[in-house]
Amino acid sequence: MAGTGGALAADALPGFFISVEGVDGSGKTTQAGQLAESLSRDGHQVQVVRDPGTTALGERLRALLLEPAADWALEGWAETALFLAGRVQLTAEVVRPALESGAVVISDRYIDSSLVYQGARSIPWEAILELHRICGADLRPDLTLILDLEISAARGRREGRPSLDRLESEPNTYHEKVRAGYLEVARRFPERAVLVSADRSPDAVARDCLELARARLQPRRAV
Ligand SMILES: Nc1ncnc2c1ncn2[C@@H]1O[C@H](COP(=O)(O)OP(=O)(O)OP(=O)(O)O)[C@@H](O)[C@H]1O
Ligand SMILES: [Mg+2]
Repeated sequence: MAGTGGALAADALPGFFISVEGVDGSGKTTQAGQLAESLSRDGHQVQVVRDPGTTALGERLRALLLEPAADWALEGWAETALFLAGRVQLTAEVVRPALESGAVVISDRYIDSSLVYQGARSIPWEAILELHRICGADLRPDLTLILDLEISAARGRREGRPSLDRLESEPNTYHEKVRAGYLEVARRFPERAVLVSADRSPDAVARDCLELARARLQPRRAV
């Protein structure tokens, strides 16, 4: 089956790789943090990363890519290449070594974000996947939690923020394409991607995420 795997899937490594995905404001950062706490309490070594970000290069690219009042144009392929560059560095410098050491890595966004956000700009998924394969940034998550939320609800949650970043400032039509892209990710990669309804209290969402993670982690840890 075509996957985001290629040569090296994360499940070939001793650790466990979880990506958290969803539209802007769906609760990814909240849930990544809660899940990390719960899995730490279960006795796992847990590392949370954010994509783009975490590495020195990634954080600089993040600032550039999300700059709220960007007064310069960013062509779709250029945007694809910049997110890819951050992910290559993150994978090589942090995610792969942590998985090799047996840790649970929780990534606040990963490759699916490129599929759906750049896909919504008509960049073909196959090209994005192939670029990631070529660059060794194609670790396949053991579990992808897709926090599904209507765009209007997600927008409402972000209203208190001082300013919207470059991608948040895109029109609703763009964000609707992003949400539809995530539903397509769930259809296309059912072996790893699970839709979680995010239109509930943070604790209710967290309970589902933890249950899904435990169900996949426990068989892997049992000897
Ligand atoms: N289940 C929830 N119900 C209501 N509000 C929530 C819920 N989860 C998170 N929030 C709030 O909504 C806002 C967005 O949450 P969060 O930052 O976790 O989302 P995100 O998906 O990481 O957003 P971004 O894409 O901008 O990084 C925050 O103010 C957070 O406290
Ligand atoms: Mg966030």
